[in-house]
Amino acid sequence: MFKIQDYIRDIQNFPKPGIVYKDITPLLQDPVAARKTTDALLETLGDVKVDKVVGIESRGFFFATLLAERLNAGFIPIRKPGKLPYETFSESYSLEYGEDVLEIHCDAIKPGEKVLLHDDVLATGGTAEAACKLIEKMGGEIVQCNFLMDLDFLKGKEKLKKYKVASLLTV
Ligand code: PRP
Ligand code: MG
Repeated sequence: MFKIQDYIRDIQNFPKPGIVYKDITPLLQDPVAARKTTDALLETLGDVKVDKVVGIESRGFFFATLLAERLNAGFIPIRKPGKLPYETFSESYSLEYGEDVLEIHCDAIKPGEKVLLHDDVLATGGTAEAACKLIEKMGGEIVQCNFLMDLDFLKGKEKLKKYKVASLLTV
């Protein structure tokens, strides 16, 4: 039986001492595991219309693009500052290890569009919360936030109480 945790490895003290990095590259290396992961994410969503799938740089991009293709929806990147070439909206947030800003192209989402937000990990929730703010500022309606894993002890879900949240794995 497929278990996503068999394809995620813990890297101790990366990128800083005290951090346990969840490495999803083994999952991406295996096409069957990647497909089953996409299937499982789609199952949590159910039969909901989605216009845009937003993926958060960088590790959120992988499955967000796979989900967008399967849902026949557009893929929208939310990126770290200075990476998007066109006009952007931005939002600052605090990370498990530091502070950062997220940006989205100003024409990425149209008012009333149904949006699925995806990222690999929900940790403190700061990143996803900032992404949700960007989406809503543009008039997007968030139908779900989904993650490969939720680091439950960091209570990220509390920042996303307004939304439907799904994770394939709770750590
Ligand atoms: C990690 C992870 C999530 C975010 C979760 O990304 O991929 O995006 O942190 O943290 P939070 O819930 O505490 O905000 P990171 O910023 O390390 O960048 P990366 O995806 O480019 O590796
Ligand atoms: Mg990330």
